[in-house]
Amino acid sequence: MNQQFGGDWTQQKIEIVVSYARAYLTIMNKYPQFRTLYFDGFAGSGSISKEESEIDTVKGTAIRILEIDSPKTFDMYYFVEKNGAYKKDLEATIKSDFSIRNAFVVNEDCNKKLIDLAKFLKKERDFRVLAFIDPYGMVVKWSSIQALSGLGVDLWILVPTGIGVGRLLKNDGNISDGWYSKLEDFLGIKRGEIKERFYKEVSMQDLFGADITLHYKESNSIQKIHALYKERLSTVFRFVSDAFVLRNSQNSIMYHFVMATNNEAALKIANHIVKPKYKL
Ligand SMILES: C[S@@+](CC[C@H](N)C(=O)[O-])C[C@H]1O[C@@H](n2cnc3c(N)ncnc32)[C@H](O)[C@@H]1O
Repeated sequence: MNQQFGGDWTQQKIEIVVSYARAYLTIMNKYPQFRTLYFDGFAGSGSISKEESEIDTVKGTAIRILEIDSPKTFDMYYFVEKNGAYKKDLEATIKSDFSIRNAFVVNEDCNKKLIDLAKFLKKERDFRVLAFIDPYGMVVKWSSIQALSGLGVDLWILVPTGIGVGRLLKNDGNISDGWYSKLEDFLGIKRGEIKERFYKEVSMQDLFGADITLHYKESNSIQKIHALYKERLSTVFRFVSDAFVLRNSQNSIMYHFVMATNNEAALKIANHIVKPKYKL
């Protein structure tokens, strides 16, 4: 079962993670004291359809990463996929084509598995992790990211600045309690701070002299959402890379794709990969 291809940016995102993984394995090959783990929180089925028909397909990131064998493979692969059918498909491909890899596929929620990953890394101190978090929308809770604090994880994360957070921050500031709690869970900050960051409050009197308060959304809000998420990531990781900006066919920003790490060399590689080839 193939997943739908989102456009050129789907391919660009895959190429960024694969390029980074190659560089990562080249470096880690020099440090045999560390074991390497590839953690994919939204792994998919292993293939993505370019068209409605299932004929024109591209390999998903999971397969592209499993294919890398030089200078070394990852010592372990952990794929998380919440859709049971996709999980089975990915597992079947791994069984038939990559049976020699030390790979696990689980049918779970990524948030739970990020917490489990953090617990695992606190026990198994010699593991270094390349994690790829590729959700549709605002599924990843801030608490799941926060759990990774202080651990040896390089985290590529697709942040739904335009299609997720940007859509919930309505222009008139009239946001339901449900949407505020979604924003709070995602950003890890309280409603008051969200209001302060994104809205100007203007008090005035209406035509009949009654006091009213109007809310205006700050301009450039998508860039401000990106800046805020980067700031949040910087409370967990020492470094956050420049963003690769994913736009739809109308040129509107959908996502910012960034890498967070505690390692300065990793930051430099990520910035190098994101910038020259893929800048939009
Ligand atoms: C954007 S697609 C992943 C594409 C994949 N990374 C690739 O490059 O081939 C997102 C996937 O996440 C799965 N998913 C959605 N919510 C999830 C969750 N909470 N935990 C884990 N997987 C989830 C969906 O079923 C879908 O297959």
